[in-house]
Amino acid sequence: RLMLEIQINASVFWFLGHHGQLSLSAVFLDEYRDRLFLGGKDILYSLLLGPTSSESKEIYWPPLPGNREDCIQTGKDPQTECANFVRLLQPYNRTHLLACGTGAFQPMCAFISVGHRGEHVFTMDPLNVESGRGKVPHDPSFPFASAFSGGELYTGLTADFLGRDSVIFRSMGGRSTMRTETDQKLLHDPKFIAAHLIPDNDDRDNDKVYFFFTEKATEAGDREGSIHTRVGRVCANDVGGQRVLVNKWSTFIKARLVCSVPGPHGIDTHFNQLEDVFLLRTKDERNPDVYAIFSTISNVFQGFAVCVYRMADIREAFNGPFAHKEGPDYQWGAYEGRVPYPRPGVCPSKITNQPGREFGSTKDFPDSVLQFARSHPLMWRPVFPALRQPVLVKANIPYKLKQIVVDRVEAEDGHYDVMFIGTDSGTVLKVIALQGGNSLEMEVVTLEELQVFKVPTPITSMEISVKRQAVFVGSPAGVAQVKLHRCETYGKACAECCLARDPYCAWDGSSCSRYTPNSKRRFRRQDIRHGNPVLQCVDQSPGDLDVTEDKVVYGTENNSTFLECVPRSPQATVTWLVQRDDRKDEVKLDDRVMSTDQGLLFRRLFRHDEGVYICRSREHGFTQVLGRITLEVLQGETVDELMARDNAGLSDSFKDRSRTWFKDIMQLIGPSNLPHVEEYCERMWCNDKLRRKHKSMLEKYRQAQESARKARSKNSGERNRTPRDLSAWEE
Ligand SMILES: *[C@@H]1O[C@H](CO)[C@@H](O)[C@H](O)[C@H]1NC(C)=O
Ligand SMILES: *[C@@H]1O[C@H](CO)[C@@H](O)[C@H](O)[C@H]1NC(C)=O
Ligand SMILES: *[C@@H]1O[C@H](CO)[C@@H](O)[C@H](O)[C@H]1NC(C)=O
Repeated sequence: RLMLEIQINASVFWFLGHHGQLSLSAVFLDEYRDRLFLGGKDILYSLLLGPTSSESKEIYWPPLPGNREDCIQTGKDPQTECANFVRLLQPYNRTHLLACGTGAFQPMCAFISVGHRGEHVFTMDPLNVESGRGKVPHDPSFPFASAFSGGELYTGLTADFLGRDSVIFRSMGGRSTMRTETDQKLLHDPKFIAAHLIPDNDDRDNDKVYFFFTEKATEAGDREGSIHTRVGRVCANDVGGQRVLVNKWSTFIKARLVCSVPGPHGIDTHFNQLEDVFLLRTKDERNPDVYAIFSTISNVFQGFAVCVYRMADIREAFNGPFAHKEGPDYQWGAYEGRVPYPRPGVCPSKITNQPGREFGSTKDFPDSVLQFARSHPLMWRPVFPALRQPVLVKANIPYKLKQIVVDRVEAEDGHYDVMFIGTDSGTVLKVIALQGGNSLEMEVVTLEELQVFKVPTPITSMEISVKRQAVFVGSPAGVAQVKLHRCETYGKACAECCLARDPYCAWDGSSCSRYTPNSKRRFRRQDIRHGNPVLQCVDQSPGDLDVTEDKVVYGTENNSTFLECVPRSPQATVTWLVQRDDRKDEVKLDDRVMSTDQGLLFRRLFRHDEGVYICRSREHGFTQVLGRITLEVLQGETVDELMARDNAGLSDSFKDRSRTWFKDIMQLIGPSNLPHVEEYCERMWCNDKLRRKHKSMLEKYRQAQESARKARSKNSGERNRTPRDLSAWEE
């Protein structure tokens, strides 16, 4: 029951499409209209996000007539390739969205009427479909990034059928289409991850579009297959050159993004492969923080890291020297010659357009500038992350980090960036990284680990809604909405709330609840940095610290049994004590008695295991008793005997109930011999006291049933580490 409650709290809403597999491939969260737009295979959905429910509309959007057949003819897969996979959903104007799909290897785009705020319009004119070439890739599996600004669409993709023409495009709007030259110096087998327009200053002429991608790194020398992550940019007002670079970018430059940790023998371990980028926008729109997930491409070591970059550092690399190589036999170095004016990468603006130096457009740039830009697209200095190290590193984990969104949360002692990281196994990790007082070491605190999708499915999109205080988590299977915070699940004591170290939550004197800064309530207890309840909760009643639950669990001799005890904080370590005859000893763990994340597992129960088990959690020097479980071991006597001994002298209704009870318990513990069940029966429900306490008997019965059920499911070959299962696909 508890599990189910948590499930409902964790994902309050999910959507699987109307026709089985959604094959989700594009998401746009419209905070203004309170709508979530989804694109899948031959389909578009609009979900109206109400406070409690969601109303959905759909548009069927298959490839144009004949294209599907043509695609199959070329040998492509009818299911996974020859359909219209929607890859792009962008707001276009006040009433329309722009949608583009692969159209069975014939990319196409259409405008979708979504109406004004408050009305749920969702229609497409099937006749008004145009080519999507250069807007989305032909192949649904190819990486791709886009940004829409000022009526124009910026894309980084492969724009041909074979997937060889890697290019950064600008299309739509009034100006002529722009693209990168086909030159491996500019883009070498790039894999585009993200694109964003980020202004430089108040002069709109300095607006730049940034692309985040990985590519083959020519400068890495002979090491075949070396991949580097790049940040590249173009000026939004780039219109190409007059004689050279006609309709080609004249302001494109790129720099390496480094994400590494010091390794043994002074050799750094580099995380070179970019997986996802999230722009944490702040009040200063020129300086968002760039959060990026990286992975290693090594065969021996599988690792992931999150690095954070400051725009100032990115700009500094672009203002620094250009990378240069004199000839094939020379080393790469910083270009030390004269750089022509206007310096490549600088946008035509008030600064370049002064009397005597009139460069009002890239068409006015001297040929020497364009030649230099063409031959020196790479900067010499890389961009290092803030603090020169990742905020999070995960190595040798049984899952992959795929998606990231970040929320900046105001807490009692400043702000914290809470990361929500989606994995390839359907889970979302909620994490904060704290910098230790004097050391540079980062302390990573996992606040929650949510199994959003019951089936292990890769998370392919995440959209954060600060307005709704939720994250929309997308996978090929569907979309779920996960709350940013669930303070109430951290328990009913000040200490637990404090130990959770969740910046969203604080102890308000009576419960763990959402912390709101500047609120008038004076009694707020929170300690994210140290999670020290001894200081925070010292004046709270001492009984507060122990949240003991007393339970009785019945197990069968020679069979398995499970004593559940899950600490509320993933950082806590659990120890088990067993109490017999006033002596408390630590439980000896071995192959037979194992401590798991969820509790204590007896793979085979012995008679002498009987006792009172105490589950104690420890975190930051703070110890807390989480539960006291009395373990009873059932043994001896046959079922038949038991049934024969019937319940003489009991009322009929009680007899009936006890019979069912017997039947149930027999089903649970199997048809084996049960010696001393009689004795157990005495204790349980045959004595006068308990007979009077009908209710408590039934309660205990339920508990016995519950723990037997758990013991069975825990023992049926589950993996050792199960994140708290919070999904509710079938329930
Ligand atoms: C938005 O764009 C669509 C497609 O070009 C057009 O039909 C519609 O009139 C535009 N709406 C507004 C409000 O400009
Ligand atoms: C449990 O196993 C032991 C040793 O195999 C055996 O002697 C005993 O009878 C078994 N008890 C039950 C209840 O099956
Ligand atoms: C152990 O429990 C299972 C499931 O409750 C049951 O099927 C099996 O017979 C039991 N084995 C013994 C030895 O009691």
